[in-house]
Amino acid sequence: MSVNVKDFGMDNMPMAVLEEYGAKTKDPRLKEIMLALITHLHEFVKEVQLTEEEWFKAIMFLTAVGQKCDDKRQEFILLSDTLGVSALVDSINNMREGIGTENTVLGPFYETGAPEYPMGVSIVQKATEKGVTAVICGKVLDKNGSPVSGAVLDVWQSSSEGLYHMQDPNMPEHNLCGRFTIGADGEYIFVTEKPAAYPIPTDGPVGVMLNACGRHPWRPGHLHFIITAPGYDRLVTHIFTNEDKYLDSDAVFATKSSLVGEYKACNDEALAKELNIEGPFEKVEFDFVLMSAK
Ligand code: BEZ
Ligand code: FE
Repeated sequence: MSVNVKDFGMDNMPMAVLEEYGAKTKDPRLKEIMLALITHLHEFVKEVQLTEEEWFKAIMFLTAVGQKCDDKRQEFILLSDTLGVSALVDSINNMREGIGTENTVLGPFYETGAPEYPMGVSIVQKATEKGVTAVICGKVLDKNGSPVSGAVLDVWQSSSEGLYHMQDPNMPEHNLCGRFTIGADGEYIFVTEKPAAYPIPTDGPVGVMLNACGRHPWRPGHLHFIITAPGYDRLVTHIFTNEDKYLDSDAVFATKSSLVGEYKACNDEALAKELNIEGPFEKVEFDFVLMSAK
């Protein structure tokens, strides 16, 4: 009995691989993704003429990325973030027709279960020594400018020293996090401390990659938000701190000029009294526009 042996090599790659996956993969979307992945992967290997040492180094790098993951740390998401892939997937999937507030990355520090607060309170449970007090306020609107009553605004941020509550054993749980329900006027207001720039985690293989590529790990200061309301698209976004020196080089490629908030010194004594603020403070006004769910 003679068996036809297939010849695989430079001449028929990636065609032979594409034919096999194209013929056998049943799910049409999986097929589309696999064929594009194989095409680009083979083109990449050919383009850079990858050596065996480089290929093995890449395998060891991806192994280390996997080994760094546990229930608290997701090094693969960090890899995706620092390669700009998370921001690209976010952009493709959240087009807002130039009307709705732009989305940006969720990041790894969101936790459910933040305290529910009434409007006007402070989300600071333990203040940072050099923290600058800030009032964040504005409206949650639909695309016609009407208030979105009943929207839930979830906010979380790092301190003025650049740490999230779960990164700092001296911070109470959910410090600098809170949930607010928007009333019929669409308005929100809360007190916090001005977020500072901070470095993404660099104690794993992604840190080694950034260092090898001469990239810094810093993100400009920002407040994170998830805003949800029945009948509207979920908005996952930030308000970035204006004049932050990393606004033009975010380590995870997630800045957008429309999301920069202007922190301005505020001398409104009546507001300070109403919000129980002592000493100087800054204020940011920022409206969010939600798009109707498709
Ligand atoms: C953050 O904003 O918290 C973040 C986003 C992506 C990677 C690391 C941190
Ligand atoms: Fe963040």
